[in-house]
Amino acid sequence: MKLSIINGPNLNLLGTREPGIYGSQTFEQFFEEVKSKYPQIDFNYFQSNVEGEIIDELQRVGFSADGIILNAAAYTHTSVGIGDAIKAIETDVIEVHISNTFAREDFRHTSYITPNAKGLILGFGLDSYRLAIESFLS
Ligand code: DQA
Repeated sequence: MKLSIINGPNLNLLGTREPGIYGSQTFEQFFEEVKSKYPQIDFNYFQSNVEGEIIDELQRVGFSADGIILNAAAYTHTSVGIGDAIKAIETDVIEVHISNTFAREDFRHTSYITPNAKGLILGFGLDSYRLAIESFLS
């Protein structure tokens, strides 16, 4: 199984960025754990702070991967383009968030991803990604 994980802006700073909200583990540390927990999965990981690069990556993997786990971060709440890209590709996308965005500011309650995603997992810290992996496996 080929799974693609795509992270949006500022998620390259996990571990140091607002640890009270996002935790103190870097994504790279977490990703190493995930790869050893699921050796049967062929993972592809991509992170960008640039909206168009996230769209390019969705288009690149979106006709060959078996599943995409997307945390579009702040672009979740603003990007019609990323929402349209999810509609345009064939691979199912699970939207994930580390924090419970509905328990935060009102602007984080809007998502351009959710209407086009297979499902939404949020609020479980980095475990949100693992739950999405489990969902694709089942
Ligand atoms: C986030 C939530 C977004 O509102 C925020 O802009 C992020 C991270 C999360 O994973 O909790 O950058 O997507």
